This record gives sequence, C-alpha cells and structure tokens, in this order.
Amino acid sequence: DWNMPDYISEAVEAIRKQVGDDEVILGLSGGVDSSVAAALIHRAIGDKLTCVFVDHGLLRLNEGEMVMNMFAKNLGVKVIHVDATEQFMGKLAGVTDPEAKRKIIGREFVEVFQAEAGKLKNAKWLAQGTIYPDVIESAGKGKKTAHTIKSHHNVGGLPETLNLKLLEPLRELFKDEVRELGVALGLPHDMVYRHPFPGPGLGVRILGEVKMEYADLLRRADAIFIEELRSAVDEEGRSWYDKTSQAFAVFLPVKSVGVMGDGRTYDYVVALRAVQTQDFMTAHWAHLPHDLLGKVSNRIINEVRGLNRVVYDISGKPPATIEWE
Ligand code: XMP
Repeated sequence: DWNMPDYISEAVEAIRKQVGDDEVILGLSGGVDSSVAAALIHRAIGDKLTCVFVDHGLLRLNEGEMVMNMFAKNLGVKVIHVDATEQFMGKLAGVTDPEAKRKIIGREFVEVFQAEAGKLKNAKWLAQGTIYPDVIESAGKGKKTAHTIKSHHNVGGLPETLNLKLLEPLRELFKDEVRELGVALGLPHDMVYRHPFPGPGLGVRILGEVKMEYADLLRRADAIFIEELRSAVDEEGRSWYDKTSQAFAVFLPVKSVGVMGDGRTYDYVVALRAVQTQDFMTAHWAHLPHDLLGKVSNRIINEVRGLNRVVYDISGKPPATIEWE
C-alpha cells in the first residue's frame, strides 16, 4: 500500500541526491519502462537529462512521431532522435538467421547509442528503466528457461564502455507500480498500458531477411489489427486489446494467389498473433471473436496493397513461442 504523490517526491529527492549536478543520459525506446524512467528523472532534474531515441526503422506505425510528440513536445524533455534506419537495414541485408538478426540489431543499437552518448561530454550517468523483475531475472542468469531460448536485446555493457555510473530509479518496482507511476507523472494511459514490444522490433516479426518494403507492409497491417482490438469493447467496457497480453501481426515472405476485382493477385501473407499470459513463459492463443478476425482480415486485404491473405496463429506456448522468431 503506497501513496503515489509521496512516492514521487521521495523518488525525485533520491535522484537529486544521487546525481547532484551531474548530467544524465537515457536510452528511450518508447517502451513503458524507459518512458516512465525518463518522465521521473525529468521531474527530478529537468534539462540535465538527455534522452537518446534510436529509431532502427523497425518500430510500429508512427511510433517515432508518437515518442517525440509525447516527450519532446508535451513533456519538454530533451530528446535526440537518431534515425538509423539506413544503417540497420544495411547491416541486416542478406541475413536470415533469427539469432544473427537479433545480434546485429543489438550490436548496432549499442553502437549508435554510444556514438550519441559520446557527444554528450558532461554526462556522468546512464539511466535505465530496469524494473524489479529484471533484477531478479539477471540474478538467475544462466538458468535455461523458456525466456532465455532467445537472446534478449538490451543495452547491457554500455555503462562500462562509456564510463558512466548507472541510475536505475525503477529497480524496486513491479510492472503494475511502474504503470501507476507513469500515469501519475502525466504519461497517457494508453501508452503506459501498452503490450510489450521486443527490442529488435519488427526485425523478429519479419521472417527471414528484413527489408523495408516488408516492414512497411507489416506496420500497416499491425496498426489495423491493434486499432480493431482497441475498438472491440465488451459490455463492461473492456477492449480485446486489454483482454490480451500481446497482439501483433507477423510478415511471412511467401506469396499466394488471390483475386481482386477481375484480376488475379500474387501477394504476401500476414499472420495475426494474440496471446493471453501471466508471465510470458507460457501463453494461450486468444479466442478472438470470428467477426472481429473477419473485420481485421478484410481491412488488411482491402487497405494494404501487397497483402492478399491473412491467417490466425492458434499455437500455444509451449510448444510455439510468442514471437515467430
Ligand atoms: P517468446 O517469443 O520468447 O517471447 O515467447 C516472450 C516475450 O519476450 C518478448 N521478446 C523479446 N523482448 N527482445 C525483447 O526485448 C527480444 O529479443 C525478444 N524476443 C522476445 C516477446 O515479445 C514476448 O513478450
């Protein structure tokens, strides 16, 4: 049982005491944890915080704009927006292996972030949105769990190479508490209650080689799916977005035949994935209503030229994982 305004003022005091007059850098991903950390640290030290937002070109539709609007425009946070799309695409060209893709994205991310951080000569601290479950998880590292089957991308190792001290103001909080804190700090409810999004982004939702053409098709299909999940609300006012733990579209680089008007199409396929889970270690596929799925499928095929088939993933975890790569 805790009181949010008291918690915020204590946390703000603690941050001020810890960093003094030093400057702080934070890698903003658009995810809940780094966003809440940014808002909290900004509350404590204002312009002494600089956020670096690395756009690898594999974000969701309009995500870059959304992050910049929310932080730079609305909250007045200093944010450096790095569009590194070309660099990431260059390194990913021709790479099809899922783990190799993850490693490349992780490595490039660190490189781009480091280059930006290196320009901020006065920064002494690196802030991260580490939350309590992350602390526990890394304490148990080496344990082979369903979670560690895929190498997860984070900015580990950065503080050493940059010679920065670590600032982790969310270290003692659970996810629910981080969300409550975010809302209390003025972040929009929808942002704070978003489904998780993997660090490598659409890079692991485009099977095989990553191409911008595929990413653009996938972004549009995914946005339609999410929009429909958000607007499908039951009698109690809960949307299917809220009733699922994670939902997204996956791009399959195979073509199949379709008909459109008098013509024949030969276009790509997307799969829809929606799961319900407590801990993301095991998950059930969500029993979405057929009419909702039908609507999403119609909209995707009608609105996204280049896609002519939509399938629904009915695999549980295990044996399937939540992401397709
Ligand atoms: P899987 O696919 O392993 O996913 O069932 C479990 C949860 O982890 C997320 N995930 C990732 N998150 N970097 C991340 O930051 C990654 O490389 C990564 N791979 C999977 C996935 O979205 C799901 O929430």
